[in-house]
Amino acid sequence: MTQLLTRADLDDVCVIEKECFGKDAWNFNMLLGEYDGGSVFFGIKHCDKVVAYICARLIFDEADINNVAVLPQFRKQGMAQKLIQTLVDFCMQKNIKKFTLEVNANNLPAKNLYQKMGFESCGVRKGYYHGEDAEIMWLDKEQN
Ligand SMILES: CC(C)(COP(=O)(O)OP(=O)(O)OC[C@H]1O[C@@H](n2cnc3c(N)ncnc32)[C@H](O)[C@@H]1OP(=O)(O)O)[C@@H](O)C(=O)NCCC(=O)NCCS
Repeated sequence: MTQLLTRADLDDVCVIEKECFGKDAWNFNMLLGEYDGGSVFFGIKHCDKVVAYICARLIFDEADINNVAVLPQFRKQGMAQKLIQTLVDFCMQKNIKKFTLEVNANNLPAKNLYQKMGFESCGVRKGYYHGEDAEIMWLDKEQN
């Protein structure tokens, strides 16, 4: 079940980051900085360990999704979809209806996921990820 994560869960999130992003992973201090800065973290636990998470910064009427990641052995079970839906529901209750994120243009699993959840591509940041392009995606629930 999806749940709001606390500071005590950040060690688990750090493990997910390393597994999923290698040298580009956020380290513990970066995660803590996000958490202390008011970003919201949701996760899914298995045997008391976080195995999938999403993190977003809520800025006025917008949510900026920083990361979605699922441990490899738990992928393709709908966890990422559940996490995004939970975040969207949480934000809608706070009258936040616009969602944005950046995704590596070559990351097809992630792009498919976001498109499935209703996100649309609306621009490119050239060379944003070590020379690879980032696509900027938006979901506007006011218009959906
Ligand atoms: C991208 C990621 C978060 C998807 O997590 P997941 O829990 O496996 O995704 P879900 O099971 O919820 O899948 C939802 C949809 O995403 C798309 N998708 C997921 N994995 C995919 C894959 N390997 N290839 C193509 N499309 C994929 C599909 O459209 C899927 O819907 P379907 O099952 O009806 O085909 C996961 O692969 C991951 O952690 N990747 C590494 C980290 C990353 O790249 N994060 C995104 C950073 S912007």
